[in-house]
Amino acid sequence: MATTATLDMLDVTVLEPRMKHPTIFEWFDALRAGEGFIIHNDHDPKPLYYQLLGERGNIFTWEYLQQGPEIWEVTITKLALTDKESIGELVAKDFRKAQVFKKYGIDFCCGGKKTLEQACQEKGINPVTVEQELSAIPESNTTGDTDFKTWDLTFLADYIVNIHHKYAREAIPTLQEYTTKIAHVHGAHHPELVQVAKHFTNIANELESHMPKEERVLFPFIKQLNAASQKGEKVDRPAFGSIQNPINMMEMEHEAAGGELEAIRALTNNYALPADACGTYRVAFAKLQEFETDLFQHIHLENNILFPKAIALEKEVLK
Ligand SMILES: [Fe+2]
Ligand SMILES: [Fe+2]
Repeated sequence: MATTATLDMLDVTVLEPRMKHPTIFEWFDALRAGEGFIIHNDHDPKPLYYQLLGERGNIFTWEYLQQGPEIWEVTITKLALTDKESIGELVAKDFRKAQVFKKYGIDFCCGGKKTLEQACQEKGINPVTVEQELSAIPESNTTGDTDFKTWDLTFLADYIVNIHHKYAREAIPTLQEYTTKIAHVHGAHHPELVQVAKHFTNIANELESHMPKEERVLFPFIKQLNAASQKGEKVDRPAFGSIQNPINMMEMEHEAAGGELEAIRALTNNYALPADACGTYRVAFAKLQEFETDLFQHIHLENNILFPKAIALEKEVLK
């Protein structure tokens, strides 16, 4: 890349561990379309790639300049994706974007043919600010489908682990703490909170055994099937007979976790907060809803995209 020499370099090795990812995100968010920077690290920053993809979307390029064994350097460049799409198209794909345009007084109906860049220029607004708010809208089931369905299965399996399994592992201890605390403090007046804490413990226990099964057995086999299909090779029948068997088990476990979340929703009357709810009470309910959204998207990707495709793949490549 001709511009590499002029790019700023972020030395990640000198940052405190907890500051590494936030600092990289800060640098990324400050980029204008077309701009980039280099990250310098002492291990492969691949997990960051998935995190960036999950949280900011497919709006950057990732180019290794050095790949170990001691030093890894990657150029991250922000793409000018929204340049190509008109505001009307952006809203058609995801109506929630309309809210952001409304806030900045950008006309997305009659003026919808303009690009974001043009509309911002006319209004004297910095397009980077608007772009950041647009990309902060999380992927939803309806808008995410088209993309995920076209993804390579190995890539999708890695994405699920790096985004959704990682999220669950981070959120579970926090939520266990919150749900236990509010059950303890408010359980006398709100006995349903004791039930909520129990249901959440069930979810935590289920996921703690569920995710490693996917990571150690099912997903590696899916990757093996995918690689064989790409190379035109055949695969031996696995020890578990057919992929349908572990998939049936995973789907049953998904249903169980979904059922626990439904029970929490019913017990809390759709997370309605009582008048005497304290700060932790509020945060616990907000976080539980965030957890529910993430788990439903996670299960959607597995049940509706990854698993059916893997079953079809097995039919194709099994000896
Ligand atoms: Fe999973
Ligand atoms: Fe799963």
